[in-house]
Order: sequence, then C-alpha cells, then structure tokens
Amino acid sequence: MSNYHIKHLEEYFQVYRKSVRNPEGFWEEIAEEHFSWRKKWDRVLRWDFKKPEVTWFEGAQLNITENCLDRHLSTRGDKTALLFEPNDPKEEAQHITYRELHGRVCQMANVLKAQGVGKGDRVCIYLPMIPELAIALLACARIGAIHSVVFAGFSSIALATRINDCDCKMVITSDGSYRGNKTLDLKSIVDAALESCPGIEKVLVVQRTGNAVSMHPKRDQWLEPLLEEAPQLCEAEIMDAEDPLFILYTSGSTGKPKGMVHTCGGYMVYTAYTFKNIFQYREEDVYWCTADIGWITGHSYIVYGPLANGATTVMFEGVPSYPDFGRFWEVVQKHRVTQFYTAPTAIRALAKESLEFVERYDLSSLKVLGSVGEPINEEAWHWYNNNVGRKQSPIVDTWWQTETGGIMISPIPFVTPTTPTYATLPFIGIQPALMDEEGQELTGNQVSGRLCIKFPWPSMARTIWGDHQRYHDTYFSAYENKYFTGDGALRDAVGYYRITGRVDDVIIVSGHNLGTAPIEDSINEHPAVAESAIVGFPHDIKGNALYGFVILKEIGEGRNRENLSKEINQQITEQIGPIAKLDKIQFVSGLPKTRSGKIMRRILRKIASKDTSNLGDISTLLNPEVVEEIMENAL
Ligand code: WTA
Repeated sequence: MSNYHIKHLEEYFQVYRKSVRNPEGFWEEIAEEHFSWRKKWDRVLRWDFKKPEVTWFEGAQLNITENCLDRHLSTRGDKTALLFEPNDPKEEAQHITYRELHGRVCQMANVLKAQGVGKGDRVCIYLPMIPELAIALLACARIGAIHSVVFAGFSSIALATRINDCDCKMVITSDGSYRGNKTLDLKSIVDAALESCPGIEKVLVVQRTGNAVSMHPKRDQWLEPLLEEAPQLCEAEIMDAEDPLFILYTSGSTGKPKGMVHTCGGYMVYTAYTFKNIFQYREEDVYWCTADIGWITGHSYIVYGPLANGATTVMFEGVPSYPDFGRFWEVVQKHRVTQFYTAPTAIRALAKESLEFVERYDLSSLKVLGSVGEPINEEAWHWYNNNVGRKQSPIVDTWWQTETGGIMISPIPFVTPTTPTYATLPFIGIQPALMDEEGQELTGNQVSGRLCIKFPWPSMARTIWGDHQRYHDTYFSAYENKYFTGDGALRDAVGYYRITGRVDDVIIVSGHNLGTAPIEDSINEHPAVAESAIVGFPHDIKGNALYGFVILKEIGEGRNRENLSKEINQQITEQIGPIAKLDKIQFVSGLPKTRSGKIMRRILRKIASKDTSNLGDISTLLNPEVVEEIMENAL
C-alpha cells in the first residue's frame, strides 16, 4: 500500500488513523519518499499552540523549485507543465514544457538577482493571469526571495498598504491586463500606489497589452529585454524548511490586512500530497483550476501542488462569460481537461444561462470536479453534477483557507461517497474539532459548532508578517490549544462535515473574503458620513452581497442620496477595489447598539436578509426605536 496515493475508502481510514496516531512518523515517510531534499530534517515536528509556534522538518534544507522543476527534467522534460489559455480564444494557447519553464524561471531568477533582489527580500507581484505570473513566483522561490502576490483587481491604495506592510523592494507588474472585452491599465495603478511606497527600488514591467504606459526613469524597466540577456541556468538557493516562501494577505476583522506567512518545507509536502489525492491526479491528466494566482487557491493548486507532482496545469487569463458563457466548456473540450476546479459563484452564474452553452461541448474528458471558496448550495451542486459532470465525475467540495495553505476537509474522489453541500471528511492528518459557545469540544456526531483544528498540519501559516501577537489573538486565543478557523460547521450522523459559513466579521462575496471593518473605515472617510455598518445578505450569484447602513452627518444643499451612494461606492472602489462595492445602501438615523455601544449586526443581518419574523429580544438595546425605522425603510 502506498500512503501517497489513496484509492479505496478502507485505505483512507487506515491511513487517516496512522496519520493521527503517529503524525511525525507518517509525515516523515511522505516527505522522505516523494520529495528531494538537500539535507534531511533533525526533527519532524515541534509545536506549541499557546505561543503559537509550529515547525515542520526543522533543520531540513531544500528548494521548492527543485521539486517543482529540476527533478522532473529527466523524466518529464518535454511534458507540458504550464498550459496557458489566453483571454481571447483566437490567440493561440501556449504549451510550456518543464524544460522551458525551468529555463524561463532561471532567467527571471537571474534578472531578479541582477536587480539586487536576494534571499529574504520581499517582492510584490501584481500581474494578470499570464505565464510570467507563475514564473515570477517560482523565480522568487528559486533565489529565496519572499513573494507577496497582490490580486490584480485590488486598488492602488490596497496595493500600497500591502507593499508597505512587508517592505517590498520590488514590484513586478505589466502594462495592462485583458479581462473579457475590457483592458485594464495595471501600470498606472502601480504608479499611483508607489507614490506612497518609498521602499520600492525597482519595478519590472511585463508587456502584455501594448498600452502606452509611463516609465519612471531609473525605477522602471521592461522585463523582456532583461530576460533575453539572462542565462537559462540559475543555481537554486538552499533554503531551510522553515524559511518563508511567501506572504499572502487576507482580510480580517480590523482594517489592516493580515500577511499570512507560509514556509518552504511543510507547505510543499502538504500541497503536493493533497493535490495528488484530492484530484486523483495521474500522469496523463490535464488539470485546470480557474482561480487567480492572486489567491491562495492559485498558489497552492495552480502552481506549487501541481508542479510538485509533475502535472500539466492550465492557466486561464480570461473570464467565464467571454466571448460567451460557454468559454469554460470550450476550454475543457479544447485541452481535454480531466480535473476542473472552480468556485460556487462561477457555477451559479453559469447555471443562470442557457444549458445550450454547456451542451455544445464535449466534456467527456472530465473525471473530477472541484469546488472551493464558500459553501456550495444544493442547487448549484446538482447543476454542476448533472450538466458538467454528467453524474459521472465526483464533486470534491474542498474546505480550506489562506491560513491553512492546503485543503483540509474534502472528499477524495472515487473513494469518499459525496453528499451535496458536504465537504465530508477531514483529509489525512487533519484533526477537526467542533466547539460550543462555552468553549467545550462537542464530541460525537450530529452536532454543530465552531470549527477548530486541534493538531498542527505541515502547511499551516506560521505567523502574520510583522505581528505575531495578532496571529495568536486571531487564531489561538478563542479556544485553548486549538486553531480557530472563523467558520461554523456541523458534523452529521456519519461524521461528515458541512461548513455553514463565517461566524466572524468576514463576508464572502463571489468567493472573495471581505472584512467588514476595512469597508466601514472606507465609508466613514466620506465627509458626509458619520457612521456605518456593513452586513451580508443572500445573493443568488455572489452567494452574499453587501448591505450598508449609513448614518449621515447633515446633508448639505445639493447633495442627494443617490449621488451619495455612488460616491460611497466610488470611494470603496478606490480604496479597496470593485469587489467590495455595496449592492444596497440604506441611510438611517441610527444603528442598533447594545448598552456597551456595540453594533448589533445580528439584527442588521436579519433586516438585510428580509428575515425579520424573529429578531430576538431587542428591549435591551440602547436604542430599540431605531430598529423599527430601519425595518420600515429597508431596501
Ligand atoms: C470559506 C479559500 C464552505 C470559509 C481557499 C473559509 C468554504 C474561507 C469552502 C477561506 C468550502 C472555503 N465550503 N466554505 N468548500 N472553501 N470556504 O482564505 O469560510 O480565500 O474560512 O481561502 O472561505 O477563504 P480563503
């Protein structure tokens, strides 16, 4: 029996038990047999959730790019590693082999070095979904620089905050990006951001759209000519297993984004192992994850996990609706995609369109379908299963987080029987716990509570960049000796988990995590606004949409509410990005507050969701009368 590739349910249970009984022994075996290390570890695991401190494979040395590239050259040199599908279907797809990718990564690594980037330096990557994005990640990893990818839909202010938070010295960007029939000017967003980023010494610019851009003398350079001059070989920097590999920001319940730090060794082992099993990846497969590399899903399951397994991984630049709603399926047919991994929000959007867009294409190559990012509703699950999977391709509903680095709860296809809306069973090595309000673990089945993890796993984030205390407070202070996920979940009669959604101030809109605090901060900066509160309400495509309750200072002459709503959304777009715009804005004279002054979001959530039959006891509020007013004028 190979513990690396699980093929039967009994095998899953056996391996799972082993991974829990003897985690060190289990992960040591996986790490030893399936990866190349420059030096083996002195100790597999050290942990203390109180501090919190976790190390995996301490003392080991490696470079993740040797595992993702070099070691495949002798056996898979001519195999396609990256399959780039451009936004415009008329533009030809690019098949980049392992040998070519290795050469291009080395070239970019040499450019970075020549530009003064070295081990431990932070490099901000703000690029569209073009091959240079994946290459930039790997080039950083090659020389031990820490990449911090910022999704290229964030505004200049959001970009600047992230650049400054981890003191990046370089930005890699492009002249622009294609999204459907739109062209976005990324370079001018970077230029605006850099006005407040004194630490940036160099900007490398990839040419993609041919937009006219302004190049800042000394600071900015086109990447292409530098790459042409650079040698195709670059020695990999030898990294400690616990050296940081990357920082990736996620929203939190305060205004400042959290820079989650992932390290080299454990992250590699866990993303590769989960990829192999959860997608039942086989050598001849063509795997496609539609996420953007700006999010953790792209880091772990477009770049590192697939490449560590020598897989062919598709990178798609476009959107599901361009040139029409059949685009995903056209790409599946064209490249004979075998595993397809997407988000519920995309499924819901496509399910709204004519079935003809799906039926037009031959999807018989598909073996496994995946879902990630938010709970998948039953209707979307069935649509996906019936029309895309033709009831033959199991759906893996994968639950995990930026913080967890890899998939934590998920079926293993052809192994775990699936149930709509259930992420089913913990993956190998993962020990979930459900907690009640009093902080007691709920044992047994048919219980629901707050989802925690009670034992470390190799790809967990090690800290928040520059703020270990916040890491402790956010994840390890709610329950003793447990990592708290921020999600609620239930465990059914057979032990399957169903994730019910966030229990904190994070709202997931179209699969993107949005903290309410940064959006409220942005609204409150508007000169006409006194105070605001944001809640989520159900939306049939986005999953949740944002509803803002806004208290105005006096409205001056000539200011109407419609204009104000537009200005508020404009401000959010500038400060965070268009993904955080509000669907509804209601102007109110007050917000329901507890006597200690806390906004009762629970009540606002109910009003926004039009579920006001049972608001609970509001008599203890400081201002119960305001609830009536808000209900009457609800949108
Ligand atoms: C939610 C994305 C239900 C959850 C990989 C989590 C899910 C947050 C699922 C993390 C799922 C992710 N079912 N909810 N299959 N997958 N979530 O950091 O609330 O962008 O805490 O990582 O998304 O989002 P993040």
